[in-house]
Parts: sequence; structure tokens; C-alpha cells
Amino acid sequence: MNSQSICSWIYMLLLFLFNWNIVDVFGQSNNFVVTNFGALADGITDSKQAFADAWKKACQTPGGIVTVPTGKTFLVSIGEFEGPCNGQTLLQMDGTLVASEDSKLDDTEFWITFHKIDDLVLCGTGIFDGKGALSWSHCDESSSCHHRPASLRIHAVTNANIQGITSLNSKMFHFQIHNSQNVNVENIRITAPHDSPNTDGIHISNSRDVKIVNSIIGTGDDCISLGDGCTNVNISGVACGPGHGISIGSLGKYSDEEDISGITVTNCSLSNTTNGLRIKTWAPSKSSIVVSDITYADITLDNVKNPIIIDQHYCPHDECQNKGESSVQIKGVKYINVRGSSATEDGIEVQCSKLKPCEDVEFCGVELKLNGGPTIANCSNVGGQFLESNPSCHDLLPLCNK
Ligand SMILES: *[C@@H]1O[C@H](CO)[C@@H](O)[C@H](O)[C@H]1NC(C)=O
Ligand SMILES: *[C@@H]1O[C@H](CO)[C@@H](O)[C@H](O)[C@H]1NC(C)=O
Ligand SMILES: *[C@@H]1O[C@H](CO)[C@@H](O)[C@H](O)[C@H]1NC(C)=O
Ligand SMILES: *[C@@H]1O[C@H](CO)[C@@H](O)[C@H](O)[C@H]1NC(C)=O
Repeated sequence: MNSQSICSWIYMLLLFLFNWNIVDVFGQSNNFVVTNFGALADGITDSKQAFADAWKKACQTPGGIVTVPTGKTFLVSIGEFEGPCNGQTLLQMDGTLVASEDSKLDDTEFWITFHKIDDLVLCGTGIFDGKGALSWSHCDESSSCHHRPASLRIHAVTNANIQGITSLNSKMFHFQIHNSQNVNVENIRITAPHDSPNTDGIHISNSRDVKIVNSIIGTGDDCISLGDGCTNVNISGVACGPGHGISIGSLGKYSDEEDISGITVTNCSLSNTTNGLRIKTWAPSKSSIVVSDITYADITLDNVKNPIIIDQHYCPHDECQNKGESSVQIKGVKYINVRGSSATEDGIEVQCSKLKPCEDVEFCGVELKLNGGPTIANCSNVGGQFLESNPSCHDLLPLCNK
């Protein structure tokens, strides 16, 4: 039985058995309910040890399950769920986990970490509440704002299914997927206020074969961002907004970065976001990586400030103004059937590097309006073809003036 069907099977059981104790159903053998390990559902007492103990048992047991029961709230100051485990390990997350509000804990890098696990299932209707408000408030004063933990870290994990859960008000990023392979994220919800600093929804880096499907993400930063070293990542059926859109980058800041290729973003909608579909690289760049084979298709935008943007001159805070061009090569980027409303007259901004002009950037069926009227396309250092006369493309507006 694959992990997805185990997940739905458990859902069905819960549904049919109603209030039966799941322990009775499975016997004590493979199901470890956190309350049986001393977790206190008062939302105040730190239950980190109970969660650690339940995880340890489940991890050692083939097909082990950690159950966080429905309707219960647990404070967990820090959660470290580590493998290698003895076969598949499932965290059946139906309750609520709250992080500590204590800003002294903000020195830790992550709140909940899944590390070195093969075959992980994280599913349920539960909520990870990062309690970010207090730590965001420090960001006005700048200094104590830098070290805030990300809510959920998926690190060195292979074959993971993450389904159904909600991540709320992370202190920093909601999800970080790093050094992982074959990760499916489905039907999740990520929520934080539009002005919460650096609360990116899902940040993926150095990972391959990742799928994000049918999820709702509204945050104060990128809904989804892809860092260097990502290969074969599909994002589909994601509703993004508020937030900063779906981003690749920023890239080229560090010398040890790796290429990005095979990214598809399909059937997504973006509403009230500052950016829509963005690729950004630092100028100058410390690495000369290649970003290739990127496809955006069937995207609707609603009131988006920069709907389509490639910015190869990224350098915030005037750190490196005019000190060089980006050496990151962008090639093979397709925008197919991208439609909707822009909040500014700049529908398409493609500002590539003089040093490494963009190659093969194609627009097909791109229609972006401002108050029902046309928008501008502003492009420089872009090579390749613009499919103005492609017979399969309709309503090809606006066109880049090369
Ligand atoms: C992403 O989509 C492409 C094209 O449909 C497919 O070949 C690839 O296997 C998919 N990758 C993942 C990780 O789902
Ligand atoms: C498109 O995404 C929506 C969710 O936003 C989903 O319900 C629908 O099934 C998706 N359609 C296709 C063809 O994948
Ligand atoms: C976008 O903003 C408008 C106006 O503030 C609001 O009415 C609408 O509900 C927002 N849409 C989304 C999806 O948040
Ligand atoms: C195009 O973008 C460049 C760089 O941001 C800017 O200097 C220029 O004024 C823009 N042109 C138009 C027509 O908006």
C-alpha cells in the first residue's frame, strides 16, 4: 500500500469509527498517541519530550504512526523528528501544535524538523501554529529580527507525502524543503498576514522531484520560492495571495550555487500579490549557474503589481549598485496562457543581464490588462523568439518590443 492510500485509509477509519480510540483499532503495536507519552493538551505545558518519545517509538517500528489527536492543542517548543527509521513513518496530525511565543527561543533555526527520513507521511487536518506575531514586531527594530525559526523543515528526506495540514503564522518561513527528493505536497493551507516579514510559504532548495498541488497560500512574502539546485519541480493548482508571488531566486549571491532546471508552474492563480511569476538574480553574481527549462502555463492573475518579471539586476539596499552584471544564464522560459489584471502598467518586465542575455524566452497567449486597457512590456537583453505569429496563440498581447 502506498503512503497516500494509507493516509486516506486512516481518514476513512477515523470517519467510520468516529470516537473510537485509534489505539484499540491498531493495537498498541504501531500507533503511538502523543497523550500516551505524557503530552499535555493544555496548550501551555511544553510537550516536546512526549513528541520526541512518541516519534522515537514510531520510527523504530515498521509502519509506525505518531498520532496527534483531533481537537487537542499542544505546546511544543521544538520538535526534532529524525531518521533513519524502520520503514514508513507517519505523523497523523489532527490536533494543533503551537510554538512558544518566547522570543528567547528565536535563536533556533527551525521549530519542527524532519531529518534523514526515507518514506515520511505527514497528513491530517491539524494546524502548526508558529505564533509569529511577537517576533514579527521586533522587525521594526531590525536587530532582534534576524534569527527567527522557520516552522517546518524537511531536510535530507526522500519519498515524503505531506497532505491536508495547515501552517499558520510562522515566525520566519513556513516550510523549507532542502536536500530532499520525491516530496509531494498536496491540499495544504498556509496563512500569515500580508505584512508579516519573511513568512515565505514554501522555500525549496537543492531538491529534486518535488510536487506542490492544490494548495492555498497567503503570506507576507513569496508564496513559493525556489532556491538554487532545484530540478524537476511541479507546482500546480496553487492559489497564491496575498504575498510576493511564485519566485525563482534570488540566485547568484553565493559561489557554490547549483543549476536550476525543469520547473513547471501550471493551473495557478495569484491575487493581490506584489509579484506574479518572478525570476531574480543578483548583479553582480558570485556563481555562473544556468536556469533552464522553466514553464508557466494556465495562470490567472488578479490585481498583481508585477505579473511577469525577470530581474537580473537584483541588489537590495544599494549594496552593489552598478558594480557589474549578473553571470547567471537564464534560458528556455515559456509563458503560455497567462492572463488577468495587473495593478500597474508594467505587465511584463524582462531585464536580463548584458553579460548573459536571456535565451529562448517565449510568450504565447499572454494577456495582461490594467483597468481593462493594455499594459506595457519592457524587455532588455532578451534573445530568442517571441511567438507573435504562432498560429496556436491567440490574443498575444502585449508583445515585447525587442
Ligand atoms: C512534472 O511534470 C512533468 C511534465 O508533465 C513530468 O514529466 C514530471 O515527471 C513531473 N514531475 C513531478 C515531480 O511530478
Ligand atoms: C486546477 O487547480 C484547482 C485548484 O486551484 C483544482 O481544483 C483543479 O482540479 C485544477 N485543475 C486541473 C486541470 O488540474
Ligand atoms: C484582493 O483585494 C481586494 C481588495 O482589497 C479584496 O476585495 C479581495 O478579496 C482580495 N482577494 C483575495 C483573493 O485576497
Ligand atoms: C524599462 O525598464 C528600465 C529598467 O528598469 C527603465 O529604466 C525604463 O525606464 C523602462 N522603460 C519603460 C518604457 O518603462
